[in-house]
Amino acid sequence: MKRYLVINGVNLNMLGVREPGIYGNKNLKALEEDVTKKADELGVKVDFYQSNIEGEIVNAIHSAMGKYSGIIINPGAFTHYSYAIRDAFSSVKIPAVEVHISNVHKREEFRHHSVIVSECLGQICGLGFFGYSLALEALVNETKN
Ligand code: DQA
Repeated sequence: MKRYLVINGVNLNMLGVREPGIYGNKNLKALEEDVTKKADELGVKVDFYQSNIEGEIVNAIHSAMGKYSGIIINPGAFTHYSYAIRDAFSSVKIPAVEVHISNVHKREEFRHHSVIVSECLGQICGLGFFGYSLALEALVNETKN
């Protein structure tokens, strides 16, 4: 069975507590349950990883080589400045989709730019937790052969 890795970056362990008007009331565990349900429907396996530490996310991306067919990543604020995470994706060449729960383009200017998305197949933002399931479906479709 194909495996996909879902990485949540900095501050995403605070879902459910953090700015509920923007990110909703549901926590990270609920998000992971939603994505697991979608994976079951699609007949694939998903694993989850969350870290607030940039280097640990880089390590998780490196370790995904040969193990995962694709990566879904919400880097949190790392999106906007982590050249290290960007370079990790260009090193491993695993298909990836960047997801944001909020519509970053409706928010502060600094959130409008991602330094990581250029190494990804694409980006989904503003669709809440559902964006992760859409990203999984897109990755499964991209990696079906
Ligand atoms: C976020 C958007 C980022 O700008 C922010 O720093 C986050 C969450 C999102 O999911 O909407 O931590 O990635």
